[in-house]
Amino acid sequence: AGLHTLAKAAGKLYFGTATDNPELTDTAYAAKLNDSKEFGQITPGNSMKWDATEPTRGTFTFSGGDQIANLAKANGQLLRGHNCVWYNQLPSWVSDGTFTAADLTTVIQNHCGTLVGHYKGQIYSWDVINEPFNDDGTWRQDIFYNTLNTTYVPIALKAARAADPNAKLYINDYNIENTGAKATAMLNLVKELIADGVPIDGVGFQCHFIVGEVSTSLQTVMEQFTALGLEVAITELDIRMTLPETEALLAQQQKDYQSVVQACMNVEGCVGITIWDWTDKYSWVPSTFSGQGAACPWDENFAIKPAYNGIVAALTA
Ligand code: G3I
Repeated sequence: AGLHTLAKAAGKLYFGTATDNPELTDTAYAAKLNDSKEFGQITPGNSMKWDATEPTRGTFTFSGGDQIANLAKANGQLLRGHNCVWYNQLPSWVSDGTFTAADLTTVIQNHCGTLVGHYKGQIYSWDVINEPFNDDGTWRQDIFYNTLNTTYVPIALKAARAADPNAKLYINDYNIENTGAKATAMLNLVKELIADGVPIDGVGFQCHFIVGEVSTSLQTVMEQFTALGLEVAITELDIRMTLPETEALLAQQQKDYQSVVQACMNVEGCVGITIWDWTDKYSWVPSTFSGQGAACPWDENFAIKPAYNGIVAALTA
């Protein structure tokens, strides 16, 4: 039936995947990506990031992002915007810049406002803030925090809300999938934003996991956020292994995909699941973690792996 079709039938908004512009020239890849029964939502893996969209101050380039947005529109797929403010993949004029607090405020407002405004009406949800915390729950000491302390978060969220009042505004992070210091830091941040009347609609759980080590408290953590009235989503799911693939690892990966997807299924406010690309051919994992890979539900030749059946089992449970 297709993963998105199954997710919809089970009451979720979407099952989707990340993609990236260079992959779209692979016609067999594109044919599968365009199958909206399988993928009802897409996220651009790189082309809406700051280095891609505002490489020099005040000069915006949307060609890559537009290509993905137009594809989503043509396919009838929802689109997640990724992302407005992140310490990584910043152009050097931002990362190496020296800004007063007032100047950086203007920079953030202009970037988020112009980016979100450009895609107004086309985006289901935006990762307005990406990865604000260190793993111990302290704030990441990036250009934004070092210049503006925590105020960069409401500055960005307010600019995004003004630019597209209908887009759901998210904070997105990894290693918040288990209870612990980082999840607590995110919970406290969100509570404070709500108390201050700052626009915030959702929290994204990236879910970049390792086979045999997936979160056991994902449902519990998600419920802590939905209890505050927010929605949650699995935004970047993949489950990597140390290569080579073995039958035992693939079988464990099937179980792991099933349990992660089941956590979202069990939480009413978990709106959807996005895998961080569907095929091992284009996964980010091998280039980042040497000797690891095979993290996606489809293999390098676009054949489904046992992991796919694990997802289906959770979506139809
Ligand atoms: O654009 C340059 C190109 O000019 C150059 O020739 C080439 C040579 O290596 O590099 C290109 O940049 C690469 C970029 O992707 C675009 O393809 C970077 O090296 C590469 O590091 C970058 O990787 C991306 C990564 O974010 C960077 O942090 C991955 O594709 C992307 O999937 C990944 O996505 C992140 C999410 O945004 C946030 N959460 C974690 C997730 C996985 O790391």
